[in-house]
Amino acid sequence: MNLAERLAVARGGPAGEVVRAIAAGGPPDDADPSSPGPTPPGSVAGGAAATRKPPPKPAAPARSGAPVPGSPPPDALLKLKDRAGKALFDRIGTRLNDSAMSESKLLAYAREELSQVIEGEKVPLSVEERARLVREIGDDVLGYGPLQRLLDDANVTEIMVNGADTIFVERDGKLVRSTARFASEVHLRRVIERIVSGVGRRIDESSPLVDARLPDGSRVNAIIPPLAVSGSTLTIRKFAKDPLQVSDLIGFGTLTAEMAELLEACVTARLNIIVSGGTGTGKTTLLNVLSSFIPKGERIITIEDAVELQLQQEHVVRLESRPPNIEGKGQITIRDLVRNSLRMRPDRIVIGECRGGESLDMLQAMNTGHDGSLSTVHSNSPRDAVSRLETLVLMAGMDLPLRAIREQISSAVDVIVQLSRLRDGSRRVTYVTEVQGMEGEVVTLQDAFVFDYSAGVDAHGRFLGKPVPTGVRPRFTDRFRDLGIELSPSVFALPDRRETPFRDHAAELSARSPNAPERRKAPR
Ligand SMILES: Nc1ncnc2c1ncn2[C@@H]1O[C@H](COP(=O)(O)OP(=O)(O)OP(=O)(O)O)[C@@H](O)[C@H]1O
Ligand SMILES: [Mg+2]
Repeated sequence: MNLAERLAVARGGPAGEVVRAIAAGGPPDDADPSSPGPTPPGSVAGGAAATRKPPPKPAAPARSGAPVPGSPPPDALLKLKDRAGKALFDRIGTRLNDSAMSESKLLAYAREELSQVIEGEKVPLSVEERARLVREIGDDVLGYGPLQRLLDDANVTEIMVNGADTIFVERDGKLVRSTARFASEVHLRRVIERIVSGVGRRIDESSPLVDARLPDGSRVNAIIPPLAVSGSTLTIRKFAKDPLQVSDLIGFGTLTAEMAELLEACVTARLNIIVSGGTGTGKTTLLNVLSSFIPKGERIITIEDAVELQLQQEHVVRLESRPPNIEGKGQITIRDLVRNSLRMRPDRIVIGECRGGESLDMLQAMNTGHDGSLSTVHSNSPRDAVSRLETLVLMAGMDLPLRAIREQISSAVDVIVQLSRLRDGSRRVTYVTEVQGMEGEVVTLQDAFVFDYSAGVDAHGRFLGKPVPTGVRPRFTDRFRDLGIELSPSVFALPDRRETPFRDHAAELSARSPNAPERRKAPR
């Protein structure tokens, strides 16, 4: 979002209201060591300081700048901050819609004006105090209010605002309530408007739910009353500045080193892989890790609803779909992008998530020479993933017979990697399953790895098991041999424990009615 727009949105109320409202944001949940101590929620004093951005810039003056003799007491300083915030809106109002002004110029301009406002106050301040005040007011007025601090906190991965005074965050993988809060529903709405107008969208009674993105790439969903009954609701999946790597996933127990070796070989051998999992199970993260195995020099086209993938390769084209505009025109769907990508000479197509008719185009692409493609689907087991793909292909509206769809799936998809969030909150690969072909009317699946639940849980309820080989060597490993890809013997080495919950999907399915695909519940 351009700063002018943000300010324009913020300008809604009386001058300075935003500063006051933000200032009432409450104390931080994890006290910032550099902040001047907790302040009661609702109090103007300290609030603005509490919501300021931590000073990441090396040039930021130290908080402990020596006060000049006769410096105002902290209370007076905060009143000054409030007054200066009001005056800033009065002064720069005319420049807000100046589209010729870049964001950085406007920011510099706002800071310059603010300096003059503070100058005019004739309050004795040290150079450091003045610089700090300018920075803090700027951050409060131009940032995202109480969310700013949570956005700046690297340990927070998700922010969930359930109305003005209830904010939950996911911190280090755990859901906790934050003490941050908005001053009022109006304040929250203003911040939401600031976010969505930044990506050229709007939110109001006629379009009360919006997907947007922060300038740093964080994914945002906003929904307002009357649909959100308990007040405006905002969900932010923060963009990982330092995305999880394969070594992290191995460290978390999501996958094993052996499985990572197998998956790397699968990607190198251009197998088509579907990552399957429920909401927030880590599908996109695993897709990113799998994409990192794509050899350098291949032309990769990524297609997403909101860009999240962070590929490190040099030759990457990133495409993002577009919702319709206010008149309901101009929509570009994932499906349009998949079709277009075929004319862009891709070596690999990576689709963030299949959730509609694009699945048909993806399967067709996989079947017509664009192998090595990767995507995710929302489903609870490998078998479910196949059913889900069937349903999604039907959404393309081609009126294909079910058998034809299943044939497409079975010949296009080589591997399904299933992710689940277990009862202990950990995200684990619970299956690596080969799609072998068709048997009668049914797509046959064969597990290569399954999660070992039989290892039980420790005293804290954490699962001790890991995904272990079933002992069945997938047929696709023959392709590795042809391509000269060597796998360590340990990859398919059976674990010592033999109570592994091995399931032979093919045998199970052939014992069933061919038209009744098995459905298993995801482990809880
Ligand atoms: N293996 C993992 N272990 C721990 N945390 C993880 C793991 N994978 C992902 N995460 C974290 O879980 C959150 C959700 O991850 P991700 O976006 O990959 O999930 P998703 O399944 O794609 O979600 P959605 O269904 O919303 O698209 C992120 O904050 C991410 O950092
Ligand atoms: Mg995702």
